[in-house]
Amino acid sequence: MPALPTDTPTLTGDLVELRPVTAPDVVRLHALMRDPEVGRLTGSVHDDAEPTGDPWTVEQLQEVYARWADDTDRVVWAVVDLGTGQVAGEAVLLDHDPDNASIGFRIWLGGARDRGLGTEATRLAVGHAFDVLGLHRVELEVYAFNPRARRVYEKVGFVLEGTKREALRYADGWVDCHVMGMLAQDWRRRRDRGSPAPGTTPPPPAR
Ligand SMILES: CC(C)(COP(=O)(O)OP(=O)(O)OC[C@H]1O[C@@H](n2cnc3c(N)ncnc32)[C@H](O)[C@@H]1OP(=O)(O)O)[C@@H](O)C(=O)NCCC(=O)NCCS
Repeated sequence: MPALPTDTPTLTGDLVELRPVTAPDVVRLHALMRDPEVGRLTGSVHDDAEPTGDPWTVEQLQEVYARWADDTDRVVWAVVDLGTGQVAGEAVLLDHDPDNASIGFRIWLGGARDRGLGTEATRLAVGHAFDVLGLHRVELEVYAFNPRARRVYEKVGFVLEGTKREALRYADGWVDCHVMGMLAQDWRRRRDRGSPAPGTTPPPPAR
């Protein structure tokens, strides 16, 4: 299977748009990364006292995102909240393995949580992996202390495949890390069953 194309498409849903990251977006992402919940739930810090946000300056981070934009093993999007027009976080397909037609996924939103944005952004990214890139498998990792993210991934169609025990040290304890995966046939089956397609609002429940 060939490398990924370097042009990052814009994917538009009802609540969010996924689009290539621009240099001004990085200024906002740099600030959003300082959200303590993002630091904790992505495993970037190891206790509540550790400062969140990466150690890079905005300029260094802009160089990182510019490099990522040229990478052929990842697709990096800014997640734009269409309600405010503001960048709310990032969604990334990464570690493309062409021989096995598989790729990883990660997402974070700074603020703007619990309004459905993450679910839709995940559906859009995963739909791109299967429907456009033609991949066979998408996988991700989620810490056991993050039931919200796990719920989002299950809603989209990921299933628990295994658990890396005590993979993260946090404060005085250890946190398990769950590995979740979805296959192209899982995605198609859900689509054919009428699960909401990316960017569509599900119909109201029948009375
Ligand atoms: C994880 C994340 C992307 C989810 O996006 P979001 O926009 O907040 O999530 P949504 O609003 O789309 O959906 C949240 C779902 O989780 C549920 N939920 C919220 N808190 C929950 C909890 N403590 N336990 C179980 N479910 C929970 C909500 O009810 C909702 O499910 P529903 O639609 O069935 O009611 C976002 O919260 C985030 O970036 N968090 C911080 C960083 C992070 O955790 N990144 C993921 C690392 S694996």
